[in-house]
Amino acid sequence: MIARELIAVPQYAVDVERGLSSSPKTLPTKLFYDARGSELFEAITELPEYYPTRTELEILREYSAEIARSAGTGLAVVELGAGTAAKTCTLLKAVAARQMRVDYVPVDISRAAVREARDRVRAEVPQSFVRPMVVDFSNGFDFLSSIPGPRLVLYLGSSIGNFDPPAAIEMLEGVRNELAPGDALLLGTDLVKSPEILVPAYDDAQGVTAEFNKNILARLNRELDANFDLDEFRHIACWNASASRVEMHLESVRVQTVDLKLVQSSVEFTAGERIHTENSYKYTIPMVNEMLSASGFSLEKSWFDRKEWFALHLARV
Ligand code: AVJ
Repeated sequence: MIARELIAVPQYAVDVERGLSSSPKTLPTKLFYDARGSELFEAITELPEYYPTRTELEILREYSAEIARSAGTGLAVVELGAGTAAKTCTLLKAVAARQMRVDYVPVDISRAAVREARDRVRAEVPQSFVRPMVVDFSNGFDFLSSIPGPRLVLYLGSSIGNFDPPAAIEMLEGVRNELAPGDALLLGTDLVKSPEILVPAYDDAQGVTAEFNKNILARLNRELDANFDLDEFRHIACWNASASRVEMHLESVRVQTVDLKLVQSSVEFTAGERIHTENSYKYTIPMVNEMLSASGFSLEKSWFDRKEWFALHLARV
């Protein structure tokens, strides 16, 4: 009796129970990013089908100097959802070249990821002073006020695309409310293109994305003492044209019941029933303009790769 109370139930457990008891079933996308999930996402960024990371890197390689010049001087760089900061060094070097030092604050939900970000940037950008932060953005952006300005806030990789339009505006508004004149936002967005390119990016031949998607179930097995059989769920990626998003789902192969022992609940699945795990919105420039102005930013300039598959946008408060 006493022992049970000593077992820590993760904070996200209520969201999991709510998501799995709603119809259609859902799971919170942020659950992807435990240590294993962050590692799998890193592997995804190197897949031949997953173009966003290397395309954004191509833009950064080509335009970092110009972006740094447009952003301002004496900047501290704050990166939201930094992950392991694999793409950021190019831009940090361009910023550092214009000032004596650059303060860099990688912010992420994964502690393992920001530690790697810190080590990478310290090694590659000698003028950097790195102070990582572990933050869940659902708790707001007050932490930004502890970073002296002027600030260049990076939100790269089309991470914004995980939010539906109202939530994206709310998120950007939250950032906007902590910024002051002279600060800037550099936002990365994936762009609308043929489903023949979009869908394989989320359903690769090697099955890494399938493993990434199923890691959410493996995590519930580990952390909520659940008994999901990963072979009884199928990874699905599809393009929802009317919503302008790629969706990921996990589809129950047959009728089954799964127990989540730590929260004393069980979940029933029919054959073919899906759990919606992720939306990845794809944008047009009018959509980006709309999203930024609705959240109190003004779009100053956009940079594209040669195929115009991805874009970086500099916005001001
Ligand atoms: C990290 C949200 C940008 O949506 O492309 C990759 C996550 N999901 N493959 C994306 C992801 C499946 C990724 N973001």
